[in-house]
Amino acid sequence: MTIEYEAPDGATPLNPEELEQLIPLHITSMAELNAAEQMNIVQADMWAFSRNRKGLLEIKYAQALHKRMFGDVWLWAGRFRQRNVNIGDVDAYAVPTRLHQLFGDVQHWLENNTYPPDEVAVRFHREITWIHPFVNGNGRHARLMTDLILKKMGSQRFSWGGGDLVNAGKLRSDYLEALRAADDLDFQPLLDFCRF
Ligand SMILES: Nc1ncnc2c1ncn2[C@@H]1O[C@H](COP(=O)(O)OP(=O)(O)OP(=O)(O)O)[C@@H](O)[C@H]1O
Ligand SMILES: [Mg+2]
Repeated sequence: MTIEYEAPDGATPLNPEELEQLIPLHITSMAELNAAEQMNIVQADMWAFSRNRKGLLEIKYAQALHKRMFGDVWLWAGRFRQRNVNIGDVDAYAVPTRLHQLFGDVQHWLENNTYPPDEVAVRFHREITWIHPFVNGNGRHARLMTDLILKKMGSQRFSWGGGDLVNAGKLRSDYLEALRAADDLDFQPLLDFCRF
């Protein structure tokens, strides 16, 4: 089965080989695909928040979470990308090293109270979206990972602008604009957006 796949602005398009790895045979439209992914993600969210999150700051956890979020829908769920993408500047081969480094940084910030919790969260969020570890689902995975790190710090999860970030619209463009400011080390717009 094939679908007319449309990647929204600021997202990474899937190539034909990756599209072939769709699991549910009944899916023929983007609306059905989004719904199937969303159902999978809701379950992953409950799974992650209802358990102890030992290993949260490790590569294995990040992959397991992505697999939980997308594993009913895509065969590539939980696997790091093997090709370069149009977001960030991290070559595919460097993804594990960069992630390892990021988790080490977060651990250090937590141990030394380097930043307030929300700032730890947005710095982590910007960096993991920039690393872009997977072929798709990076935004949604990064947002859930960020919320879990907030939980670990004893904070409430972010509102992420209070609405739908998956479909194109003002909220998504505001989010992407805040991320681009964070690319230039200005974290305030992202801090404001995430708690709006
Ligand atoms: N300039 C940027 N800097 C950092 N991250 C970015 C930038 N532009 C886009 N991103 C991130 O990349 C994500 C899109 O990547 P991808 O398509 O893999 O994720 P997704 O979960 O499928 O998308 P969605 O955001 O629609 O949920 C965006 O949601 C955002 O988090
Ligand atoms: Mg996407």
